[in-house]
Amino acid sequence: MAQVELASGRRIRQASGFTLWFTGLSGAGKSTLAAAVSRELRRHGIAVEVLDGDEVRQNLSQGLGFSREDRDTNIRRIGYVARLLTRNGVAVITAAISPYRAVRDEVRREVGAFVEVHVKASLDECIRRDAKGLYRRALAGEIPHFTGVSDPYEEPLRPELVVDTEREDVGDSATRVIERLVELGYLRSAADA
Ligand code: ADX
Repeated sequence: MAQVELASGRRIRQASGFTLWFTGLSGAGKSTLAAAVSRELRRHGIAVEVLDGDEVRQNLSQGLGFSREDRDTNIRRIGYVARLLTRNGVAVITAAISPYRAVRDEVRREVGAFVEVHVKASLDECIRRDAKGLYRRALAGEIPHFTGVSDPYEEPLRPELVVDTEREDVGDSATRVIERLVELGYLRSAADA
């Protein structure tokens, strides 16, 4: 189980609601990192909600496909829920590919307290991991418009943080996410509280 090691093991508390927006290729590690960060935030008594792409597509976005239009609709829905939760003081973590810069920036403007994290792994590494077996099928031409293979992924130009899941383990990445939230003022260490 990933452990988050904060410098000097200090305690943290939340200053306000925020949305931690994870973006990256399928298989880059968004959901795994969301689980690690949410576990750590909850351990500090913070209310967290995770909006995971796969799960949202089974309920809120059921029936949507992977055209640009449908993806943008999916992202706007996730952004809408994130905005409601954020303004009520929740720590929101989203984990959807969200491949298009324009709609990510639109959601950023709407949410306000928005922290974009590029969860980064190379396409080769995602293909090697292929946890769901979808890259194999996409490369065989069985899944059209598959992000990174036959559909674009637009990297963020100025994300608040980039985590490289090929070089860092999940515990290190989770620590960096939480330290960035402290730097940005969304979390405070108990000493400054
Ligand atoms: S997004 O583009 O709208 O942000 P989202 O994160 O919700 O995508 O869903 C991505 C997940 O759907 C992938 O992790 C994968 O399991 C599955 N999937 C099925 N078809 C595709 C496709 N054509 N492109 C990307 N992911 C797909």
